[in-house]
Amino acid sequence: MPTTPKTPEEIEKMRVAGRLAASVLEMIGEHVRPGVTTEELDRLCHDYIVNDIDCIPAPLNYSNAPGQPPFPKSICTSVNHVVCHGIPTPKKRLKKGDVINIDVTVIKDGWHGDTSKMFFAGKPGVLAERLVRVTQECLYRGIEAVRPGAHLGDIGAAIQAHAQAHRFSVVREFCGHGIGRTFHDAPQVLHYGTRGSGEVLRPGMTFTIEPMINAGRRHVRMLPDYWTVVTKDHKLSAQWEHTILVTPTGSEVLTRRAEESTLN
Ligand code: MF3
Ligand code: CO
Ligand code: CO
Repeated sequence: MPTTPKTPEEIEKMRVAGRLAASVLEMIGEHVRPGVTTEELDRLCHDYIVNDIDCIPAPLNYSNAPGQPPFPKSICTSVNHVVCHGIPTPKKRLKKGDVINIDVTVIKDGWHGDTSKMFFAGKPGVLAERLVRVTQECLYRGIEAVRPGAHLGDIGAAIQAHAQAHRFSVVREFCGHGIGRTFHDAPQVLHYGTRGSGEVLRPGMTFTIEPMINAGRRHVRMLPDYWTVVTKDHKLSAQWEHTILVTPTGSEVLTRRAEESTLN
């Protein structure tokens, strides 16, 4: 089944939600430093989302699979070897050199904006810095592959090629997703694959690209909390995410931050 494109009115709602999600990441940056707990970061984001921008934090009580317990917090905080879906907790205090992904999804007026960014607590090691930079480049390569007539597989192929050129690996168990009134919608946007494969992109489609790239092997394990995903080899993992609109000429990054002035 082909993915239904959004109408101009729906796209405008997605622009609003995307901009607001981006603003959460812009707000939280100065708070990410050694000594802060991931629960404190969650509280700051929760209060900002609810009180300052009048949105709903989509992760709170969200569950995707039958039997999976509802996610108990408002953001995901994934530190070092945590790949994704880390649960904020007062027990996780950032130390110098930690790297953390903060993943924010807000609902405004029924529409979702989903975005994540890597932050450093203090000065990172050389490997962490390189992994984080290459993973952001993977996201940008994926975005550059988006235009009408391109295939979904072009996105994954571009990401995989860049990661592997740097001898990093691509996590396969999680992917980007269609997004709109629904948090996780069709299509699935794989971060690996073959050029020319998969659905053809058309203007008005909205989806996320959110590559998870590992410094070591690609394999992951889920913790007994049924949410936290870690690398099997306990080596570092990084992730960056944007919500993307396919436009008549290419793409628009709905969750673009002010620091990303070079993106469309
Ligand atoms: N924001 C994540 C994504 O990019 C999903 C998190 S689900 C949650 O798709 F429940 F953990 F928040
Ligand atoms: Co997402
Ligand atoms: Co996300």
